[in-house]
Amino acid sequence: MLSEQILKTSELTKSFGNLIAVNNVEMEINRGEIVGLIGPNGAGKTTFFNLVTGLEVPDKGQVVFKGVNIVSMPPHKICKLGMSRTFQITRSFGEMSVEDAIRVGAYNRLGENEVPRKVDEMVEFFELDDIRKTKCSDLGLASLRKVEVARATATEPELLLLDEVGAGLTSVELIKLMEELKKLNQETKITLCVVEHVMQMVMGLCERIFVLDAGKLIAKGVPDEISNNQKVVEAYLGRRSYIESDVTC
Ligand SMILES: Nc1ncnc2c1ncn2[C@@H]1O[C@H](COP(=O)(O)OP(=O)(O)OP(=O)(O)O)[C@@H](O)[C@H]1O
Ligand SMILES: [Mg+2]
Repeated sequence: MLSEQILKTSELTKSFGNLIAVNNVEMEINRGEIVGLIGPNGAGKTTFFNLVTGLEVPDKGQVVFKGVNIVSMPPHKICKLGMSRTFQITRSFGEMSVEDAIRVGAYNRLGENEVPRKVDEMVEFFELDDIRKTKCSDLGLASLRKVEVARATATEPELLLLDEVGAGLTSVELIKLMEELKKLNQETKITLCVVEHVMQMVMGLCERIFVLDAGKLIAKGVPDEISNNQKVVEAYLGRRSYIESDVTC
């Protein structure tokens, strides 16, 4: 039996002036899987997320989410349909407490009565009880990233897009985050699409990987196929010093 596709993009294209940031990208994600999206800096990964979540409108192409063409749909409607994301630059929740930041996510999707239950559920799942009253401005990077994932998860997404949630974390923090994301996928059946430069995380977490280079999809496959793909090695993986410098111990 064929797996159900939760997301499919066809001929997805976006230019900024003369630069084609996303160039005819065809990608399909099956419900329940964890996929990775990798590629060098400027490959178009964040732009791809922006197109899929409605922050940018493509010049050409389709984005079909749960069978609905969502191109030109505003981000809050796409969120209500069941897609959420984190942002590459950790958004400053400033003086807001951890539980208030999560509450903001929950309000996007749920009614007033359901919000407190959802906040408690997220605090428990992501083990944030000790810091639930702490101001986000007082948190370290690892906790802040966790809060960002918890906020996005509080919208009850069916598809969650994570943009470099592992960046800057130590190996120990990274392993913990990977365990939490695997648990999230297994227990809640949320489909995950992970943009990441930290190969330890991509290879350990993802069932399939898509590779972008200069806006084009140059490869897709299981982690072993991607590690041994000549095009991918030349465009990205061969630059080991660049990748390993992302993992701080
Ligand atoms: N709003 C914009 N206006 C002009 N150029 C843009 C805009 N957004 C992205 N770009 C350009 O599009 C290209 C793709 O950028 P994007 O941020 O999608 O890459 P990325 O793969 O996420 O890179 P990184 O790994 O560094 O996060 C880059 O050359 C970038 O400078
Ligand atoms: Mg990016």
